[in-house]
Amino acid sequence: MRHVLVTGGAGFIGSNFVHYLLGSEPDVQIVTMDALTYAGSLENLKDLPDPSRHVFIHGDIANRELVDCIFAEYEIDTVVHFAAESHVDRSILDPGAFVQTNVIGTFTLLEAARKAWLVDKTVPRDAVRFHHVSTDEVFGTLSKADPPFREETAYQPRSPYAASKAASDHFVRAYYTTYGLPISISNCSNNYGPRQFPEKLIPLMILNATSGKTLPIYGDGMQIRDWLYVDDHCEALWKVATQGRVGETYCIGGDNQPANLEIVRTICQILDELQPDSPFTPHEQLMTFVPDRPGHDRRYDIDISKIKSELGWQPRHDLQQGLLATVRWYLEHPEWVQAITQQSDYDGWMQKNYANRKDQT
Ligand code: NAD
Ligand code: DAU
Repeated sequence: MRHVLVTGGAGFIGSNFVHYLLGSEPDVQIVTMDALTYAGSLENLKDLPDPSRHVFIHGDIANRELVDCIFAEYEIDTVVHFAAESHVDRSILDPGAFVQTNVIGTFTLLEAARKAWLVDKTVPRDAVRFHHVSTDEVFGTLSKADPPFREETAYQPRSPYAASKAASDHFVRAYYTTYGLPISISNCSNNYGPRQFPEKLIPLMILNATSGKTLPIYGDGMQIRDWLYVDDHCEALWKVATQGRVGETYCIGGDNQPANLEIVRTICQILDELQPDSPFTPHEQLMTFVPDRPGHDRRYDIDISKIKSELGWQPRHDLQQGLLATVRWYLEHPEWVQAITQQSDYDGWMQKNYANRKDQT
């Protein structure tokens, strides 16, 4: 039996990971630790498969005493570390929270793992793993002609969010080279799918379109992201955490690189088909260009040949299938949307980020 600590497991990817792991791996016990910030909710941990193998602890990863207790009491041998402030736009408006959770929080977890595994030796060293979930944003931005990001690409973070994730990656690697802590890191591209907080492009566009609000496209809408369905990411993460080489980094991506405009148009077309009688059909009429995000990265593309060849992983969902499943999920879960938006001062965020946007280019 593995004893897995999932940090940030009440958020988007973390909760999908908890559902995935309980449903696919009978030999795991999971402790989810989450501070339940605006982005985390117990709504995301409802209807778990086999909930008897799951414990939820409400707490901050920067609380060293609590984290030490969790390692000791639950004999944690595997950490899958998702907890973070994750939204670029929020990092532009409020960067301090990103340094606190993404840098100090990660450092606190590393110290707790070092004490439990290397000093107190609560679990044999060859049976432990600290897997850090990171992002392709640490590599910066690509021009049209640049090759895709690879594991060796130099770090060039450009937003406070990306800088804080880059700092956390450096700490995780330093704990491997300095102390021999058994770690792995994955740098993944943009995820989408069920339970994503509706501040991110895809769920925001779905919810705005269904309620007849404008669809705010930053700048010219020709920025490019590499989109990965969240279940595919969860499968890749477990492979890396259990079969990936200690001390190594793996790039993960979806092999899908449409411009933002194309993503938004596809969502509109899917909604036109699913809701032909909506007063907002055709939904494309709601698309509106708004001033750009400051320092907006232009293009991401990620080379997944290492994880493909070493671990035999590749994405299972294509973008059209994944977007259709995602739109359907949001339409079928109005109670989730209502709970999440009420818990989080969602209207306050929409006001702060979208009203009075100024062109800073
Ligand atoms: P999210 O914002 O949906 O969830 C983050 C979770 O962390 C929330 O449940 C929140 O309550 C929790 N959290 C925040 N601060 C905490 C703290 N101090 N202590 C404990 N819990 C805390 O994020 P997500 O999109 O699910 O991303 C998860 C991880 O994956 C992040 O590390 C992010 O950098 C990384 N990542 C995300 C994407 C993406 O497209 N969403 C892509 C690549 C990597
Ligand atoms: O690449 C991985 C990263 O992907 C993760 O590390 C981050 O946690 C995650 O939030 C995501 O970052 P992005 O900034 O790429 O995601 P977001 O959904 O915020 O934006 C996607 C693109 O859509 C980006 O080019 C900005 C644009 N956009 C976004 C919003 C919210 C708009 O045009 N309008 C919007 O209202």
